[in-house]
Parts: sequence; structure tokens; C-alpha cells
Amino acid sequence: MSIPETFKNVEESSPMSRRDFLGLVAAWMAASSLGCALIGLMKFSMPALLPDIPKTFKIGRLEDYPIGSEKIFEERKVIVFRDQEGLYAMSLICTHLGCTVSKQVGQFDCPCHGSKFDAMGRVKAGPAPKPLSWLKISQLPDGKLDVNAMREVPMGTKFNIQNRVG
Ligand code: FES
Repeated sequence: MSIPETFKNVEESSPMSRRDFLGLVAAWMAASSLGCALIGLMKFSMPALLPDIPKTFKIGRLEDYPIGSEKIFEERKVIVFRDQEGLYAMSLICTHLGCTVSKQVGQFDCPCHGSKFDAMGRVKAGPAPKPLSWLKISQLPDGKLDVNAMREVPMGTKFNIQNRVG
């Protein structure tokens, strides 16, 4: 069976053959897939966005923290501990890509990529590149304490009323 002359002319006069068209569609789909994958990779590698909230916040008074106590400030992603030596605050933001770590017995676990930190915030398992941040605690004129989430202090720095370390 022969192709009617009319269709032959359309096919021959068309600037793009069916094969070319399908090749272009395949190339376009491959480029789209690659683009989507690249966008996904870029989003994956960016830290989680944090809400723009004041970085300094009140945590109460030293007496509010009996020795051995701890308190999590979920919205601030900070945990405050009290031990015999004083009060200290640690960031709960993973140093890998910014996920919030969860407090476990004697350690912190990151749910995103599996980093683990010991009770002092030191990295026990990667990919986190550095320890959790210890944050500055200050006493205000009214006796209340505040934490500055933008001011890191050396690991082990503790605040107490006698020597006001931190
Ligand atoms: S954000 Fe990647 S391990 Fe915590």
C-alpha cells in the first residue's frame, strides 16, 4: 500500500521529521529531569531556614534550675542544664545542615543525616563537622538570666552567681 501523495508531501515538506521530533522530546525530558534533580540537590544542601526571632531570650532565674535539671526551649532550639558547677546552655541546631537534634540519654541525635553528639555536644558520629555550640548566659539587672543564641562560649563554660562565668 502506498502513501497518498498528499501525506508524502506533508512529511517531506515538514521541517522536522518524526524521528527528530521524538529526539527533541526525549532530550527535553532528560533536561527537565536533570534540572529537577539539581534543584533538589541544591535545596538538600542548604541549611533549614530559621524564623527571624530575637536571638537573646530570658530563661528565668538560677533558682528556677535545681541541680541536675534541664529545660528545653523548643522555639529557640536551645537546652539549658544545671549542674554542681552552674548553668550552661547548648544549641540544639546540628552543625551539619541545621536540623534540630533531639536529646537522648547522655547524647544528642540528629534525625536528618545521623550525626550524634555526646552530652557535652562533641561529635561522636558524622557528618556534623563540629560540636554543638555552647551559648552565653548573662544576668540582667533584675536578676533574671538570658541566653544569647548568637554568642558562643567555649565548651565547658558555666554560669553561676558567685563567679558569673559565661
Ligand atoms: S543536619 Fe545533617 S546530620 Fe544533622
